[in-house]
Amino acid sequence: MKQFKKMKKQKQSKKPAGDQARYKTSIIYYLAVLGAVFGAWLIFVCLENKAFAPRSDFITSKIKQVSCSSDYKKYPIFEKCTPATLCARCVKDGLISESELDTLTNLAKNGFSYGGSFGGASILDLHSGALSAGGKFINIYQALNESQLSDLFSGDAMKVYEKVKNKIKGAVTNEFGVDPVNLFLTKPTFFSKMTSKPAYTKHDEYWHSHIDKVQYGSFDYTSLLYLSDYGSDFEGGRFVFDDKNDTIEPKLGRVSFFTSGSENPHHVEKVIDGTRYAMTVSFTCDPKHSIENSLWQ
Ligand SMILES: *[C@@H]1O[C@H](CO)[C@@H](O)[C@H](O)[C@H]1NC(C)=O
Ligand SMILES: *[C@@H]1O[C@H](CO)[C@@H](O)[C@H](O)[C@H]1NC(C)=O
Repeated sequence: MKQFKKMKKQKQSKKPAGDQARYKTSIIYYLAVLGAVFGAWLIFVCLENKAFAPRSDFITSKIKQVSCSSDYKKYPIFEKCTPATLCARCVKDGLISESELDTLTNLAKNGFSYGGSFGGASILDLHSGALSAGGKFINIYQALNESQLSDLFSGDAMKVYEKVKNKIKGAVTNEFGVDPVNLFLTKPTFFSKMTSKPAYTKHDEYWHSHIDKVQYGSFDYTSLLYLSDYGSDFEGGRFVFDDKNDTIEPKLGRVSFFTSGSENPHHVEKVIDGTRYAMTVSFTCDPKHSIENSLWQ
């Protein structure tokens, strides 16, 4: 009798426990399904919004092929150099050493201290000497005296500048299988400084979508070396390939390069805070458009 009572008790207490367990299981099941759906949605949104080259990633080498436009056919074609079958956008971190970056950043900052646009975009072109100053350009080689010039371009600064340009050229020729003897530096090759100041002249409007080959017929390969960090030195100012919204988040030492035709339309977002420094290095296959390494020796 006692035993029977016990069993009954057990039976009685088991029944609601079984219901509870089933109830728990169905809640867990329901939450799991909800979680999976949410997770899938999150992954989808993140992948969709993930930059082509986020600042937080160290990118040894990333290349995305795009099909070449016919822009190049409007100009003389140079075999084994002019983009024809291989067009792409590429990003590389770690190509330029810390000390080289230090030297270049100082060179740019010191150079810009002698001028600067009234608007949000200034350039310093060491080949022509052009430096934005107010609403126009001055020639830094004329505006500065000997001691200022030798101070600005002191010691190894220009050697580093040449070396870095050659490293970038090496990355371009390597990636595109171009013999370095067939590729030349062209103009404009320059440092840029961008801020959130409103535009003063048309030169300040860097945020319009454009195609380098259309803007500068001589360009075949365009490259950029970033000298400051998106998200800490400045806000906004990301580089965007317009067709696929492929976004490059600038960071110190990051190099990006791409074929210059309309397969690579792009713009730079407006800088909304801080200062963005970068260097544009452009290349041509046409020896007629080649420029000397630099004016200052
Ligand atoms: C383009 O990509 C960026 C991230 O890289 C994102 O913030 C932005 O919302 C995207 N824009 C569109 C229209 O997809
Ligand atoms: C060069 O210009 C700077 C600034 O105007 C001036 O202080 C310096 O004395 C000048 N140096 C020479 C050698 O003329």
